[in-house]
Amino acid sequence: MSSRPALCLTLLTALLALRVSASTANAPAGPVGADQINTCPAECFCLSKSEVLCNTGGLTKIPLDELPTTVKQLTLHKNSFSHIKTEAFAGLRLLRNLSLDHNNITVIKAFAFRGLPRLRELSIQHTPLAVLSAFSFAGLQNLDAVRLSHNRIHRVEGQAFAGTTNVNWLLLDRNPLKVVASKAFSGLTNVKHLIFPSGVSRLEEDAFQGLDHVGLLRLAYMDLVSVDPFTFRGLRHVHVLTIQDSDLGLVRGKVFEGMAHVLNLILKNNKIDALEEFHIVPANKVINLRFEGNHLLQNPAPGAVQIHLAGNLTVTKNHFPCDCRLHAVLFGPLANHSDFRAHNYCIKPLHVNAQAMAAMSSMDAAALARCPEHIWCEEEMPHGFSSCITFKNNFLRSFLVHFPCTYDENVVNSRYHYSL
Ligand SMILES: *[C@@H]1O[C@H](CO)[C@@H](O)[C@H](O)[C@H]1NC(C)=O
Ligand SMILES: *[C@@H]1O[C@H](CO)[C@@H](O)[C@H](O)[C@H]1NC(C)=O
Ligand SMILES: *[C@@H]1O[C@H](CO)[C@@H](O)[C@H](O)[C@H]1NC(C)=O
Ligand SMILES: *[C@@H]1O[C@H](CO)[C@@H](O)[C@H](O)[C@H]1NC(C)=O
Repeated sequence: MSSRPALCLTLLTALLALRVSASTANAPAGPVGADQINTCPAECFCLSKSEVLCNTGGLTKIPLDELPTTVKQLTLHKNSFSHIKTEAFAGLRLLRNLSLDHNNITVIKAFAFRGLPRLRELSIQHTPLAVLSAFSFAGLQNLDAVRLSHNRIHRVEGQAFAGTTNVNWLLLDRNPLKVVASKAFSGLTNVKHLIFPSGVSRLEEDAFQGLDHVGLLRLAYMDLVSVDPFTFRGLRHVHVLTIQDSDLGLVRGKVFEGMAHVLNLILKNNKIDALEEFHIVPANKVINLRFEGNHLLQNPAPGAVQIHLAGNLTVTKNHFPCDCRLHAVLFGPLANHSDFRAHNYCIKPLHVNAQAMAAMSSMDAAALARCPEHIWCEEEMPHGFSSCITFKNNFLRSFLVHFPCTYDENVVNSRYHYSL
């Protein structure tokens, strides 16, 4: 009867001894399997139990089984992996920095980085990665930086970042991203800086749906044909939303419908063909709007602009066509400041280009008079000429090209002649 407890005790001691040797960092390498923790893959340098560099190439897959589970900094540069599988780094529970730059990565599977509770920095740069597929970056938490710059990312699938939260920097710059697809950032919350690449040519409806609590969302150097209805629907709690240095084309109606709680909305240095509608309504809960340095090629129609802010409106350094339609701007919400004429400029006609509106000697009452409606509309429309712009856009465009309603006196006079 007494031999069983003794046997148990012996086994227990043996097990404990194994565990102790396994967790002793500097113990000499034991037989394979018994002491995996101290192995170092042949292609790598293990600088310490927490820092491993595998930068000399030769790895075609991630040597997960041979890596010390104590690793905190893991660098796997210039190898030849093409796939990162689901939970590719499972077990490396102390890992803080993971860098996979300069690999031949083309596929990242769903939940590739799951099981890394201490991860702070993830870098995948200079790879041929073209698509961020659904759930590939899902479930990451408390990261300082996710660096995805300098890849060939042209598409971000919906849910790519589902459940990912508390990210300081998410960097997507230097990628050939053309389309921000519907719900591309759905489920991503609490991001301090979300930086997009230049050259985006299309923002789909609901592009930012489900993106919640963002510090800075910067959209720059875009080349859009139009900004379409519901682009910003479902975007919530943004400290700064800036749309800058872009060709926005035609800004259509309902662009900001369904967007809520934006502390600072900034439109800066954009070229805008026309503001078909620009409505910031109370439900948007925008506090401050800065409209600065933009070039408008066509003045918005009366009523096209509505601005309800809880804070400050700044409209400065913009260029508007100084034609008879400027009237609607000067007496509309964009010009709701005594300084407006001193700090905004004419883009045309040519001889007043770049002059401040206030400095124009020829800006007389006749020039600022409203355009006679029949200049803009060939036939009577039930809702005045804004309806013409909405429903007869193509007609109107060709009309404008052929009969510019400038307030150059000769042109204005001939215009009046024409309309009389
Ligand atoms: C690891 O990540 C931290 C936190 O983001 C960062 O401060 C540090 O510089 C990184 N260390 C290395 C060696 O990359
Ligand atoms: C990169 O991966 C692709 C397919 O995933 C393969 O066709 C190509 O040969 C690889 N290139 C290098 C340099 O390993
Ligand atoms: C509006 O501008 C004033 C003066 O620059 C500033 O004191 C105030 O804090 C601003 N309001 C908001 C809500 O930012
Ligand atoms: C101008 O601003 C004042 C005060 O903020 C506001 O009451 C008024 O409605 C604004 N006018 C226009 C045309 O937006």
